[in-house]
Amino acid sequence: MPAPLPLSQQALRTADSPISYFIQKAIETKGLISLAAGLVDESSFPTADIAAVVAAILGDPESARMALQYGSTQGYPKLREQIVNMVCDADGVRPADANLSAQDVILTTGSQQLLYLLGEALFDPGDIVICEAPSYFVYHGVLQTRGVRTLSVPMDAGGMDVDALEALLIKLEASGEIAKLKLIYTVDYYQNPTGLTLAEERRPRLVELVKRFGKRHRILILEDAAYRELRYDGRDLPSIKKFDPTNQYVIYTSTFSKPCAPGLKTGYALLPRDLLGVVLNLKGNHDFGSSNLAQHIISRLLANGAYSRHVETLRGVYRTKRDAMLAALTEEFADMPGVTWTVPAGGLYVWATFPDSIPTGPDSTFVKRCLEEGVLYVPGEFGHVVDEFGRKPLTETRLSFGVSCPEQLAEGIRRMRRACDGVKEPAKRVEKRVGVLVG
Ligand SMILES: Cc1ncc(COP(=O)(O)O)c(C=O)c1O
Repeated sequence: MPAPLPLSQQALRTADSPISYFIQKAIETKGLISLAAGLVDESSFPTADIAAVVAAILGDPESARMALQYGSTQGYPKLREQIVNMVCDADGVRPADANLSAQDVILTTGSQQLLYLLGEALFDPGDIVICEAPSYFVYHGVLQTRGVRTLSVPMDAGGMDVDALEALLIKLEASGEIAKLKLIYTVDYYQNPTGLTLAEERRPRLVELVKRFGKRHRILILEDAAYRELRYDGRDLPSIKKFDPTNQYVIYTSTFSKPCAPGLKTGYALLPRDLLGVVLNLKGNHDFGSSNLAQHIISRLLANGAYSRHVETLRGVYRTKRDAMLAALTEEFADMPGVTWTVPAGGLYVWATFPDSIPTGPDSTFVKRCLEEGVLYVPGEFGHVVDEFGRKPLTETRLSFGVSCPEQLAEGIRRMRRACDGVKEPAKRVEKRVGVLVG
């Protein structure tokens, strides 16, 4: 036996993603309907549009040389310009009035790389980050790697409860721990995992709160707008970034993975200027630039109108899928006491809560019964950190309507209903959550 590996503390703190097992199970199990995977719809990929722009890029010697060469660490300038215009257009502001230009944009290998780079730029072990409860579980992994203490704030139908956030900030100030608080993380449009959106009036309040409590050092807001463009009902809400006209408090990040194609693995962020340089230095060490070809492809899709047409098409596709999942939930679960679910206005996820008699965790009878029936979900507890009393909710599930077709979604929900029969476990350490669910 060789001697053990001399691993870093950081590596030792990093665990395999809890969802890997579920993805593996979905691959292995024939006929399984996976409501677990966060993948996007494959039948609507803009294949022809991408093929056409790739042919155009490679068909011209000059553009081929540009796209196949290394790019810069910060990313293709034209695409950065298009992004700043796109985000500012969505918010109805001129870039100059928001103190933003292409200089403030960074392109990354998916927005996930940005989340990771920011962790390197900002956090030391013992620092505090506040997240929504529940939150994007992959981000919890990033925080764990950095040794961060994650605190959470409950959500209701309007997303993060900002009154509860204020109460937490007051508490942290009183205990002196505010000195450790670096960042507040929110997935504010059609959140992964709940599908909930931060209410409009809460957006400026978040900025006011970090200004009020960030007197000794700046407390940043990380606005993860990964699902903003996947909107099926209502109007687009202003970003939190819009309420930061000096570009000092809010990091806005989003991605082309969801509204276009994850295979291009291109994300972006608008950063406060003094943070951008730090992140660029770190990215220089990581890869000194993300895929230049992918950036050129996306830039052309934005320029020739294919991108916006595609987003429009996708909205129709996902609206139909969401409606199919919601109709099936009503059909199967309306008569079952204690089962509730969110009605997301966009994104890819519905969040369903079961009664205390049906725990949903990775070792639960329910998950086993679901596998027997041929359906899989993500246990909601993966999205939670334990609260100050060591508890987390244990009867929630994330149901994704991204990949399966409407008929499979309906069948998946029918199978979940059948799986409920016969499950009557005494719920241990279950914390009931109120106010979030509207189904
Ligand atoms: C909330 C959220 N943020 C960020 C990401 C990262 O996406 P990507 O790295 O593909 O841009 C995801 C992916 O599922 C996500 O759900």
